[in-house]
Amino acid sequence: MTDESPKTRVLFVCLGNICRSPLGEGIFRTLLADAGLSERFHVDSCGLGPWHAGSPPDDRAQRVALQHGVDISPQRARQVRDEDFLEFDHIIAMDRSVRDDLLDLAPPAARPRVRLMRAYDPEGGEDVPDPYHGGASGFDRVYTMIERCCRAFLRDVRQAGR
Ligand code: 4NP
Repeated sequence: MTDESPKTRVLFVCLGNICRSPLGEGIFRTLLADAGLSERFHVDSCGLGPWHAGSPPDDRAQRVALQHGVDISPQRARQVRDEDFLEFDHIIAMDRSVRDDLLDLAPPAARPRVRLMRAYDPEGGEDVPDPYHGGASGFDRVYTMIERCCRAFLRDVRQAGR
């Protein structure tokens, strides 16, 4: 890839965009920075719902991320928009319900670009569970899961060339 190559565009999506997808965005950005690949990618996250638009990530998500050296505090939530389906190469849903709603919203040509985060999990599984209504341990568990998936996803994208 030359510097003129178009960036690979990755969008992480959950329900509220304050817990899981901000972690996906922050973890993936950190993996890219560690690999010297930040300039080759555009990374963002959003939520299906409008409820938290403009808000920073949930304190518990910020805390678990910081414990791993990942600062997600500058992120602000936003709702998914029609253009996302045209602009992103990879639209990564945190659970099957989010994936199914995205497939309903997506134009047909974009549907193959909508996939589950845990489709990349070397340990298998389907959903990244929503930690919003649970305690801090749920955030630890979800962090570990998303990090594992993001590492595998990055390997996959690098092998495929985008
Ligand atoms: P997230 O978690 O989808 O991982 O950001 C949630 C946050 C808020 C709500 C639902 C899920 N909520 O209903 O407000």
